[in-house]
Amino acid sequence: MATPQHPAAPKTRPGSIGETVLWSQLGEKEHLRGLDDYVAEGGYEQLKRALGMQPDALIQEIKDSNIRGRGGAGFPTGLKLSFIPKDSPKAKYVVCNADESEPSTFKDREIIERMPHMLVEGCLIAAHAIGANHAFIYIRGEFYEPALVLMAAVEEARAKGLVGENINGSGWNCDVIVHRGAGAYICGEETALLSSLNGYRGQPTVKPPFPAVSGLYESPTLVNNVETLATLPRILALGGAEYGKKGVERTGAGTRMMSLSGNVVRPGNYEMEIGQPLRVLLEELGGGIPEGRALKAIIPGGSSTPVLRADQVDTSMDYDSMAAAGTMFGSGSVIVIDERTCMAQLALRVAEFYRHESCGKCTPCREGTKWVVDQLTRLVGGSGKPGDVDTLYDVNRKILGNCLCPLGDAMAMPIMSYIEHFRSDFDRYLEPGFEAPSDGPVAEIAERTVKAAGVSKPGVAWMGTLSRASFTPLESAGRPTAGAVPAGDPNAQDMGGAAG
Ligand SMILES: Cc1cc2nc3c(=O)[nH]c(=O)nc-3n(C[C@H](O)[C@H](O)[C@H](O)COP(=O)(O)O)c2cc1C
Ligand code: SF4
Repeated sequence: MATPQHPAAPKTRPGSIGETVLWSQLGEKEHLRGLDDYVAEGGYEQLKRALGMQPDALIQEIKDSNIRGRGGAGFPTGLKLSFIPKDSPKAKYVVCNADESEPSTFKDREIIERMPHMLVEGCLIAAHAIGANHAFIYIRGEFYEPALVLMAAVEEARAKGLVGENINGSGWNCDVIVHRGAGAYICGEETALLSSLNGYRGQPTVKPPFPAVSGLYESPTLVNNVETLATLPRILALGGAEYGKKGVERTGAGTRMMSLSGNVVRPGNYEMEIGQPLRVLLEELGGGIPEGRALKAIIPGGSSTPVLRADQVDTSMDYDSMAAAGTMFGSGSVIVIDERTCMAQLALRVAEFYRHESCGKCTPCREGTKWVVDQLTRLVGGSGKPGDVDTLYDVNRKILGNCLCPLGDAMAMPIMSYIEHFRSDFDRYLEPGFEAPSDGPVAEIAERTVKAAGVSKPGVAWMGTLSRASFTPLESAGRPTAGAVPAGDPNAQDMGGAAG
């Protein structure tokens, strides 16, 4: 398959601050989709080097780099590679997570569109390190054009003996398979992704067993994010220890691709050394907020992460500093929120997304996300009653930590943080005569949700022609019983800020 003459240019200009690792590979070029272009920039040299290294030495090099996964949970990548059992009689697999569905995260798509071979090379290096002969790239269904670019890159590499049998004459075989998902946010969660790849419904499964022990085809499987894998050739090129000197030594080294969006002059994907303050991203690279409006809040790691206030704009973008500020680095995507935004309307928008994407397998998430949407719709629609904001907070608190996978938390954590930091934005809906703001960035969509729900009479949550069965008269609204599901945290490896 020839490289397609791709009609659509990638959506944003790559930008950066300080020394970069990924974008610098582009040089002056717009993209490196063609194999010759990639090879001219040193592409596939690191794969060739890796083929001459012992797998243990390769894993050690990656451990030395101190890189943490870029998919959201921030798990140390070298450690994850070393978890794949060496003595397993079963085949081993690499699965690249290219599902990228977390609202505001769009870095993986751009890596794929501009530098697909870098990802293919990274997958092959990881496969060689764990002794796999197959690497699957599970790409989000909506990414039709990126999937074409990726498939063309794989075929071009195959034609040159870099994918498939006897790679570069080494005697080692490894196929790379691009698999398109059907468009479900939950299929970004690794166990749901593996269920989908196995041919089942894309729903999470209980951990343990972790994918490293029993993943694809119940065999040891390494699951890594696009950016994580695409960085591997660059780590080898620099040397693990050298890469490890970038960023913040203790809490995760290297650079990160930050997706910047929201109320900002220049949205885009910016590569930065870990440890820069949010302000640098927002003001120097993003150009600040349009029309001199004031900053109200910042979502620092994708829509599932707790919000920061404007006075926290100097927080360093690294794992520990984000945790100390009460939030998460997550998928490294920053949403800038200006003074016009009503946080209650934003909460409704965010909750509605997670309600829609809940896979329905466990009760606190399936019922809880619907409850929260119901409550917020009622409040924002002007039918709230005293005590509703406390109940809303309480319902979210009971979802938190009580779900099978982190999707329920991915809604509860941000909504709780909006209430904690911006309580008056919620309370004012209970004041007599308060009119919902109509000029904020999410006002229109909140109004549409309220209208669709038919909220018009105080005391009634839903009426009219809703397709989802959501009629919840206030009087009969009880509380979800969190104790009905197993407590505890089965998602230890996946809780670093939801998704990605
Ligand atoms: C609801 C949910 C959605 C997720 N979506 C993605 C995603 O789109 N892309 C991704 O790489 N990781 C996503 N993750 C994290 C993955 O489960 C997994 O931790 C990650 O792919 C591991 O790769 P890494 O170690 O390179 O970060 C998601 C997690 C959850 C709980
Ligand atoms: S938390 Fe939500 S998405 Fe995850 S398993 Fe439960 S119902 Fe499905």
